[in-house]
Parts: sequence; C-alpha cells; structure tokens
Amino acid sequence: MKIPIINSKRQYETIKSTVEPKVLEVMRSGSYILGENNKMLESELAQYLDCKHTVLLNSGTDALHLALRALDIGQGDEVISTAFTFVATSESIGIVGAKPVFVDIDPDTFNIDASKIENAITPKTKAIIPVHLYGQPCEMDVITDIAKRHNLFVIEDACQAIGAEYKGKKVGTIGDIGCFSFYPTKNLGTMGDGGMIATNSQYLKDRIIALRNHGGAIRYHHDEIGVNSRLDEIQAAILRVKLPYIDKWNEQRREHASYYNELFSKCSLIETPKELDGAYCVYHQYTIKIPNRDTVHKTLSDMGIGAMIYYPIPLHLQKVHAQYNFKEGMLPNTEKNTKLVLSLPMFAEITKEEQQQVASAVIECVEKTSSAVAI
Ligand SMILES: Cc1ncc(COP(=O)(O)O)c(C=O)c1O
Repeated sequence: MKIPIINSKRQYETIKSTVEPKVLEVMRSGSYILGENNKMLESELAQYLDCKHTVLLNSGTDALHLALRALDIGQGDEVISTAFTFVATSESIGIVGAKPVFVDIDPDTFNIDASKIENAITPKTKAIIPVHLYGQPCEMDVITDIAKRHNLFVIEDACQAIGAEYKGKKVGTIGDIGCFSFYPTKNLGTMGDGGMIATNSQYLKDRIIALRNHGGAIRYHHDEIGVNSRLDEIQAAILRVKLPYIDKWNEQRREHASYYNELFSKCSLIETPKELDGAYCVYHQYTIKIPNRDTVHKTLSDMGIGAMIYYPIPLHLQKVHAQYNFKEGMLPNTEKNTKLVLSLPMFAEITKEEQQQVASAVIECVEKTSSAVAI
C-alpha cells in the first residue's frame, strides 16, 4: 500500500485537458512575464478573496519579506509571530533585519495564542504575523484589536490557508497585508513557485509592485533596492485554470477531515484537529496528536504511508536564530506539540478506501506502541 501525503498527479489528471492548451497558448504567445494572465489573475484573485488588490509574486517567502519592506520594517524593529511554522515566516523577518519575537501557541489550534501577544509587545514592536497554520484561521478579531490599540501592523501568513475564513471573511484580507503561497503542494498550487500579497491599501499595493520589480514603478527608474519577484505567465495561466475549483477542493478536504475524525473516534489515544468557533478551516494539513509519534511515523513510512511532521524543530531552537539565544523551555506548548504532531495524507482526490487504510494503520501502530510502552 502506497498512499502519499499529497498526490499532485491525481489532481493534474482532472484538469489536464484544460490546463495543457492554456500553457501552450502562453508558449506560443511570446509574452512570458507580466502579461495578460497576470493582469487577469490578479483581478480574479482579488474578487475571490473579496479585497481591493492582489500582487502576484515569485513565492510566499517573497510575499512575507516584501510585505515587511513595504511597511518599512527593518533594523532595530521587532515582529511578533509564532515558532510553530515553516521557517519562511521568521526568515522573512530576518531578511529585513528585524528581530522575531516568538509567542507560544494555543495547543488546540497550533496557532499563536492571541491572549499572550500583549505581554510580548515592547517599544520596538512594529507588527504581528499570525500564521494560519494547516489552513486553520487564527483568532483574528483579538489580534486586530491588539494591533489597533498598540498601533501595530498585521501581516497575515495565509500561505497554507487560501479560502479559509474567519467570521465570514477570507483570511489574508483581515490584516494590513495577507501573504499567500502557490507552491505545488498548497491547496491552490501551481507547477513551480508562486506567491501573492493581498491588501486593501492602494499605497501598499503600489509599494509592492515597485519592490517586486527592482524597486521602480517606472521602467529604468529605481527608487530603492528591490528584487526580481514576478510570477511568470505560464504559472499565472495554470492558476487561472485552477482557481475556479478551489472552493470545491477545500470543501472536499473538509469532508475528508470529518471522515478521518469519524474513523479515529474509536481510538482515545489519538487527538483529532479542533476548529475554532467562527472559523472555516481548509485543512491544508490534517494533523493529529499521538503518543510515541516518532515510532508511529517510522512504521507508517515503512508501510508506504506518507505521514509527515510539520515541523520537527520549532523556530526559536533553529540555528538560524542562534544570535538571539532563545532558550529551550521558553515556549512550552510549542515545544511539547512539536513532539506530538503527525500530518496524514490529505488532498481533495483522496478516496474513502485510502483514508480507511491510513486510519487502520495509524490506529494499529498507536495502540501497539502504547501497549509496548505500558509493559
Ligand atoms: C506558513 C508558510 N509560510 C510561508 C511559506 C513560504 O511559501 P513559499 O514556499 O511559496 O516561499 C510557506 C510554504 O511552505 C508556509 O507554509
């Protein structure tokens, strides 16, 4: 039995007949950068998210880093975020020369514990980056209220959460800037790298358009150091084919999550994901908490089940941030949950039979390893 954590080829088969002619059309057009597909996709995505502007970029990492640049955050500034995320979140803070300040997570959602943010604010704090991890929205009304009272910017890391909603609003449109990734394994993934920012601010949109193109809004006029971070036309054309399916695919992920919950309900050793009140979670990952996680992970991998640990080392303990001397023990919930989480195969096209096989294997491994420990 081989069940990968995500099966991109299976999704490709469902859109092959539409996407292939679109890619060919771009190849034949001779227009490869910042063409009609970029223009159309930006407006289609803004309409989908119900926000005023989107700007397409080369990656989610660039979206985060350019969002910080556009808000003039840099040397001497502090940015509050979570250590329970992919490195790109805190790496972006480092790229602009600011210091990441990590707040512990809520163990129920794996997201930043909004009730602990205020304690971490100092005169140097400029922004908060909540990460909607695994497609689960953060508690945005608490976070935006804190930001308003302390005059801070909110940059949402929605790289794993396109289509997720918090109290009826799409995540990534609630703060000042939302950052998205179109990396192939994302809920809306392209066939290479890709990213985007969303904002309701004309000023921030213009700033990011300039930053993505060598710091100049007018050709060969460069006002500041920028980057080359454009989404190529082939990727934009692919995303235009996929975008109309995103709600259906997210809804299928939610159905699969409910089915996993049902299958796991017979094993009390397995903790299934919880959803925040008012949140529409899009299950970029379906992540359980289990005892003896590493043994179970290895057994499942040996059986051909693509379970993954997102993420094995929290960011405050990564060498990349060694200069700040963050200590083990400073984020107890983050550190504890890092050792418990296991993400299971999750993609829109997974079948009920595959889910049953995954669930039986997980339950068997968890029960076996736990009784071995008890002896
Ligand atoms: C939470 C989070 N932030 C940022 C990123 C960076 O996105 P990209 O890989 O497109 O640079 C990712 C991608 O995995 C992510 O999961």
